[in-house]
Amino acid sequence: MFFHIFLGLLVAVLGEEVHELRSECLNEAQLMEKLLKGSGYSKHKIPRENGITVSVEFWIQEINSISEMTNDFELELFINEMWTDPSLRFPHLGACKANLTLDQQTLTKLWTPNTCFVNSKFAEIYESSFQNVFLTLFDNGTVWVNYRVRVKGACNMDLVDFPMDTQSCRLNYQSFTYNNEEVRLQWNSQRSPVFALQEIRIADFWLKDITPAVIKRDYPAGLWDELVVTFVFERRYMWYFLQAYLPTFFSIFISWIAFSLGPQAITPRTMIGVNALLSMIFHFGSIMKNLPRVSYIKAIDVWMLSSMTFVFLSLIELAIVGYKLQIQREKEHVIEKVDKIARFAFPAGFSIFNIIYWARYGFKVG
Ligand SMILES: *[C@@H]1O[C@H](CO)[C@@H](O)[C@H](O)[C@H]1NC(C)=O
Ligand SMILES: *[C@@H]1O[C@H](CO)[C@@H](O)[C@H](O)[C@H]1NC(C)=O
Repeated sequence: MFFHIFLGLLVAVLGEEVHELRSECLNEAQLMEKLLKGSGYSKHKIPRENGITVSVEFWIQEINSISEMTNDFELELFINEMWTDPSLRFPHLGACKANLTLDQQTLTKLWTPNTCFVNSKFAEIYESSFQNVFLTLFDNGTVWVNYRVRVKGACNMDLVDFPMDTQSCRLNYQSFTYNNEEVRLQWNSQRSPVFALQEIRIADFWLKDITPAVIKRDYPAGLWDELVVTFVFERRYMWYFLQAYLPTFFSIFISWIAFSLGPQAITPRTMIGVNALLSMIFHFGSIMKNLPRVSYIKAIDVWMLSSMTFVFLSLIELAIVGYKLQIQREKEHVIEKVDKIARFAFPAGFSIFNIIYWARYGFKVG
């Protein structure tokens, strides 16, 4: 009987003890309070005297558009930054866990490397119902911040080979406030630091390559580490081939029909030539409308002007035939010699032009 009471008491005391132990685990808010208040923590002080290393990873979610008109591209990505802040270590505080998931509110109280895109036209953190920032603090003091951002970066469009062109666009990322003696930026070396989370589909281009690099920038206030990602895009020119190149082939072939109609058919021959010229102008006009007015000659301009020259020459040929015909009538016998020459000279000339053109601008199948 007595023994039973003793046992009951023991169980009660032990139970209390276990309960005590459990409630000693601090929650996130209490823990952050302990870490940041009264510990001399300042968000303005760089965590390490001799500079801190920040590892960065970009996860590309989507590339929305690439614009020749405005020389830029727009994408959605997750920016991951990781650094170790020794004053945020917390194994001794009894958190009962190895990492804390915190919110944007807490991030504003911590030191951050103040990184930004230096070549962007705009960059913003997504705010779909709340700011898309994810913060994890590990007990060894490592801070991992993940931002979901939309950014518009710069491209240096070179349309010389348009539409068989390849374009490269860049994102330049650096700390705005700290030079590389204070903050060293690096790509995360444990795995490929820039990658696409899903297959990237862009209407007009293939994403050919993503290359991360680190460069040093020399500013009056010191050297800055800059992370650079270069995106290489190759244009899907099949659309242009179908919309611009193929119709010109037909127009030019049709203009050659005229050589077989004989010298008497001046009116139909004129119609054919003029129609071919007009349809060509129409096709190119609709493509040019979506391109910037650059001052150099693009591959498609060469094609357009040369094709027009071929049709134009067939009209000149017609004029010569007409003129000769008039003289012949006076002399009472016909020659079709000019047509005979043209029937071979035009296709031969056009073939040679095609060989040269496609050798220069490359006819890549795919
Ligand atoms: C955080 O800790 C939990 C266990 O407490 C673990 O399952 C999780 O993977 C950790 N998170 C990270 C990002 O390491
Ligand atoms: C701290 O812990 C995390 C998670 O285990 C790890 O990824 C990180 O490399 C550690 N940092 C240091 C400085 O050891």
